[in-house]
Amino acid sequence: MAEALGNPKYGYYGTRNPIGAAGDFITAPEISQMFGELIGLWCADTWRKLGAPNPVRLAEIGPGRGTLMRDALRAVRTLPAFRGSADIHLVETSPVLRACQREMLPDVDATWHDRFLRVPEGPVIAVANELFDALPIHQFERTLRGWRERLVDADGDGGGLRFVLGPVTAAFSVVPEGLRHAPLGSIVEVSPARVDLMRDITERAIHGPGAALVIDYGHLGTRPRDTLQAVAAHHGHEVLESPGGADLCAHVDFAVLRRTASECGADVWGPVPQGEFLESLGIRTRAARIKETATPEQCDEIDSALERLTGPGEMGTLFKVLAITSPGTPVPGGFDANDR
Ligand SMILES: C[S@@+](CC[C@H](N)C(=O)[O-])C[C@H]1O[C@@H](n2cnc3c(N)ncnc32)[C@H](O)[C@@H]1O
Repeated sequence: MAEALGNPKYGYYGTRNPIGAAGDFITAPEISQMFGELIGLWCADTWRKLGAPNPVRLAEIGPGRGTLMRDALRAVRTLPAFRGSADIHLVETSPVLRACQREMLPDVDATWHDRFLRVPEGPVIAVANELFDALPIHQFERTLRGWRERLVDADGDGGGLRFVLGPVTAAFSVVPEGLRHAPLGSIVEVSPARVDLMRDITERAIHGPGAALVIDYGHLGTRPRDTLQAVAAHHGHEVLESPGGADLCAHVDFAVLRRTASECGADVWGPVPQGEFLESLGIRTRAARIKETATPEQCDEIDSALERLTGPGEMGTLFKVLAITSPGTPVPGGFDANDR
């Protein structure tokens, strides 16, 4: 999964911009400017709650086309104290997407990094939208001969790929005890890469001071499941058919991210459904304001974007939002005291 997505020469992200109607999938910031704007205001509000540190690193991990950051920075133009304190850092592995980001943010003095830990130390507010689902997972299957790892093998004849079962690797050690008794045939997923990134973000945030917002397709509650999927041209695709040619992703287990951040000592908020989060940040008020100067056609587009971002059965419930803050920070926007 890591090679298929990240190989610099043949990997999916290294060789294309897959986001948008002409690409393979669409993400929340591409659906409406309101998404990035509200995240930008969340960052400004959180910065104030952190004691208004100056400077603060405003870091986005996996920024895609750069749309979220563009809209976020436009929204905070009216908050010069925050904007003046914020250094912009973009953590991106794909050279093609870095070029899109440069184009999208022509007047922004941003610094690019290939890993989050290269963002300079100090106060930080980090945002990651649809990043964790692209980080590689391991899958284990419970068979009559015990747990086996699902591995990818060359199929021998046609040069294709196939799944095979092999002895478990060290990654099995992170499978929670409760899942090891799952019924025969169960598939369990774990992702040490996600745990490592969550730990890096949290350690930076708690010492910063700082905060982070993680938004992704996922669930709360670790149970057996097989969520690995491939997507091309906005449709499901055979997982092993086009390595490097189709997107690969797997649902994020927010219970694991929560536990990781909490064990590191952060205050952890949520996850809450994306719809609830955006409603609580005032997306309806923002939509009404934009509609005041929109044509009837544009108003329809705004309503449909609102429904996609917040509606039940759409991104509003499928996507979840988790925040972490330095210990003692007041409740961040979009959450309430019971979400901790
Ligand atoms: C699904 S896209 C999401 C893009 C964007 N956040 C959005 O919402 O439109 C995933 C992004 O993460 C980047 N990415 C993938 N693996 C990464 C990694 N290990 N570190 C940093 N960025 C990564 C991709 O190149 C891409 O920009």
